[in-house]
Amino acid sequence: MGRMGSARGGGRQRLVVTEAERQVADLLPIEAAPVLAHAAVETVPFWFHTFALNRAEGVYTPGAARDHRYRLSALPEDFAGMSVLDVGCFDGFYAFLAEHRGAERVVAVDNEQYRLWVASRWGVELEGGEGFRAVHRLLGSAVEYRRMDAFALDRLEERFDFVYCFGILHRVENPLGLLRVLRARTVDGGTVLVETYGVGPEGRNGPAIHVSEPGEVYARDEFVYWGFGDAGLQRLARIAGFSSVESLVDVEVDGHPRLMARLVA
Ligand SMILES: C[S@@+](CC[C@H](N)C(=O)[O-])C[C@H]1O[C@@H](n2cnc3c(N)ncnc32)[C@H](O)[C@@H]1O
Repeated sequence: MGRMGSARGGGRQRLVVTEAERQVADLLPIEAAPVLAHAAVETVPFWFHTFALNRAEGVYTPGAARDHRYRLSALPEDFAGMSVLDVGCFDGFYAFLAEHRGAERVVAVDNEQYRLWVASRWGVELEGGEGFRAVHRLLGSAVEYRRMDAFALDRLEERFDFVYCFGILHRVENPLGLLRVLRARTVDGGTVLVETYGVGPEGRNGPAIHVSEPGEVYARDEFVYWGFGDAGLQRLARIAGFSSVESLVDVEVDGHPRLMARLVA
C-alpha cells in the first residue's frame, strides 16, 4: 500500500489506496517530483479520483471513488487527433487520460455540485476545482476547465468527437434533456460514452427507471435520483437523437449497480 495523505477539514478520507485503484491510476503516470507530489496530496482537502502522482515513491491521491476497473475496457486506447469533452469531470482523471492518450483538444466541465455532497458526506468544505488544478499543474496539461452546468453546454458553440458522460446522468433532474444537450455537442458519427447508476437484477432488462429515495444510494447525498436499466437507457438515447446504442458493461461494484453504454451520434 502506498503512503497517503489525509483530507484536511473533516479528515475523513482513508489513508490507503487499494490495488484496484492503483491499476486504474497507473494508466496516467504523473511522475511528479516527490516533494511536489506529497505537497499536492497534503494541500488538496479532498480527492475524488486516485492519481498516481509518483509511483516509485508510492504517492497516490486517496480518491473517494473506489474501483473503476470496470470502466477500462470501454475507454479508447487511442484518442489521437480527437476533440474530447468531459461532462461532470470532478478531479478530471478521464479528461487527463484522454490527453495522455493523444487527444488534440480536451475541455472538462463541472458545475461543482459535488461541493454540496462532499460537505455533507465527508464534512470537507471545498472551493471547487482544487484537485483538478493541482493535477493540471503537475502535468503541465492543456486541458481546459470550465465551471459550467451541463445544461449550459450550448454556450460552447463547439462540437466534439468524443464525450464522456460519467457518473452524472443519475445526478441530473432531467436525464433525457442531458442526453439531448450532449447529442448537440457531438459531431455526427461521434461518440458519447455513458457511465451511470444501474438497477438491481429485477429491473435490468426492462425499460423502467428506478427513482431513488434521497440518501438511499449514498447516505447524506441527495443528488442521486435515478437508476437505469439497459433498455431504458437505450430508449432515452434514441429519443435524444442517437442513431445507435451499444450496451457495454453491467456490473455491481461494492453493492452498487453500474452500467456503461456507447451512444453514436
Ligand atoms: C460522481 S461525480 C463523477 C466524476 C467523474 N465524471 C467520474 O465519473 O469519475 C459527478 C460529477 O458531476 C458533476 N455534476 C453533477 N451535475 C452536474 C451538472 N448539471 N452540470 C455539470 N456537472 C455536474 C458533479 O459536480 C460531480 O463532479
